[in-house]
Amino acid sequence: MFMKRLICLLLLVALSPAQGDPAAGVPTQVRALFAQKCSQCHGGDLVRPKGRFGYAEDLARIAKRYVKAGDADESELWWYLIGEQEQMPPKNAKNGPLSLSDLALVRWWIRDGAKAPLADASSATPAVEGSPSLVAKSHVLFVHFPIALVFAALLAEALFMWRGGLGVCNTGRFCITFAALSACVTAFTGWSAAESWSPGRVETHRWLAVAALCTSTLAALVCPLAARRGGWPRRSYRLLLVVAAALVMLAGHQGGLLVHGRGYFDL
Ligand code: HEC
Repeated sequence: MFMKRLICLLLLVALSPAQGDPAAGVPTQVRALFAQKCSQCHGGDLVRPKGRFGYAEDLARIAKRYVKAGDADESELWWYLIGEQEQMPPKNAKNGPLSLSDLALVRWWIRDGAKAPLADASSATPAVEGSPSLVAKSHVLFVHFPIALVFAALLAEALFMWRGGLGVCNTGRFCITFAALSACVTAFTGWSAAESWSPGRVETHRWLAVAALCTSTLAALVCPLAARRGGWPRRSYRLLLVVAAALVMLAGHQGGLLVHGRGYFDL
């Protein structure tokens, strides 16, 4: 281990920017290196990245979480690369281990402040990028409406039935209509918000939410008929309410995992 560090340091001197690499190019090279050697297990497009670290091409995020800028020996990232923690990349990595000059490059990058690459159009796209529009941002505001309203409609209808009411509960009718309308707005803003995520990650959330939108809209449409006629309209209205509530809950859960990470429920 000591020898490895020594050789590293020697290489570092040889690599010093006075002789070649302009400092601005180092972050870009480091990102290309991580994209090649780490993305197999930590790429932004993976649904289940290893070790819950899924942004190998996003140097800004890596720096924030794993690097003490200016000091490689105090940086967790460095400990992984030299095998003081588990060796990264592991032996079974498809694109092989890092060479000593790769290590020197990373060490240089950390010493130079662990900067993110200057934006360039040809760069690999990180998982979350760019600043979302106001429409996309408002998604977090609107999501709460269909979730609460579908459940309110279901609860109202259940209480109404329990008390032996005739027809369909008017409060429930109001709630499901408002739920369907707000679900349309939520889906629209969500579609826009999804653009800043890699498609693999949002697909489950997206289609569960679309299914929730469809069932709550159907429930809202069947409701006036169910109010007038018992039999199948009323039964299908109640069934649709239950299915819409289940879907809205699953879609909301998936959305929560996207934002808060899969480790949110870990104790
Ligand atoms: C073949 C798959 C594979 C490759 C390639 C790989 N890793 Fe890993 N990495 C893992 C696994 C598996 C873990 C989880 C280890 C554990 O939790 O015990 C991990 C964990 C990590 C962690 C810790 C995450 C955390 O917060 O717990 C870091 C940091 C890391 N790797 C960095 C890298 C870097 C940098 C590269 C590229 C130079 C790389 N890895 C390449 C499989 C890989």
